[in-house]
Amino acid sequence: MNPEPEGIAAAALPLSASAPGKCIVFGEHAVVHGGPELLFALDLRTHLVLRASAATTVNGRTETAEANPYLKEALRRFAPPVPGLGLTAISRLPRGSGLGSSAAFVAALAAGLSALRGGVDRASLAQRAFEIERGAQGVGSPGDTSAAVAGGFLALNTVHGTPLWEVTAGAETWTVRRVPDPGWNWVVAYSKVPHDTGRAVRSVSERLHRPDGPALLGRFRDVAEAGIAALIAEDRAAVGRSLAENERLLEEVGVANDRLRTLLGVAAEESAGAKITGAGMGGSIVALPEPGAESRVRQRLERAGAEAFVVRPSADGARLL
Ligand code: MEV
Repeated sequence: MNPEPEGIAAAALPLSASAPGKCIVFGEHAVVHGGPELLFALDLRTHLVLRASAATTVNGRTETAEANPYLKEALRRFAPPVPGLGLTAISRLPRGSGLGSSAAFVAALAAGLSALRGGVDRASLAQRAFEIERGAQGVGSPGDTSAAVAGGFLALNTVHGTPLWEVTAGAETWTVRRVPDPGWNWVVAYSKVPHDTGRAVRSVSERLHRPDGPALLGRFRDVAEAGIAALIAEDRAAVGRSLAENERLLEEVGVANDRLRTLLGVAAEESAGAKITGAGMGGSIVALPEPGAESRVRQRLERAGAEAFVVRPSADGARLL
């Protein structure tokens, strides 16, 4: 396995920072309640340029800056000593797609703001990025922001893999571990129905607080643990089965919709398995296509109306350019 990347070094304005989006393979929603999760950093990134400016702007507009809860939260916690921050943002990640656009924005911004404060190690950057995202969203786990900070494949709240760091919120702790990348290609497809992560997380939390909630959470846990073990064993067929089982649980907690079901049906034709990825109620699916079928699966999903990408895990987490 590659050595873990260094922390973020000290830098002065102007500076450029970037971070990857993420794809959750197993365990979304359950991870908010301490369940195991497996996810990887996507080779689709958000790039930011930070400059000193008279007013705080995003792509030249103060209204865009004022409407961005993540920027507000980041500046509330880590404001640089300048009158305003002129931010240029370019991203390949569709917003509200479940592919980590907010985590990538937050991780790149936290890296840039931390560089202005003398630099930061990666464990502290993961904690900062999570606090900004959760502060803005009100709910959630540190999976997305940890992937955007660390790059590569990660597993949370499991014994698999090698320990990277722990992220905390009050009395809650999530353990984050490094898992080897089996080197497969994946396809992600955005349904073009944006979702609201906070709303989806609150709705699933209510479901998990019903009397059968602990048993349901236990099933999420078992599926994710089996899926993580299968990925480490590089067993594609078993990973495919765990994807299908995890999808059944996501159906049960009510985050599927017809659009996503149609895309899952299209992907299933030439994949070991497929499921919703991210919060659901809109957003995206992930599929593990048969080797050689990646482009066909992507094209079929595009013909079905999705914005689809063949993706590979990116070893590069948040960094300065
Ligand atoms: C969202 O990308 C994943 C969820 O599990 C929420 C979270 O972990 O913050 C639904």
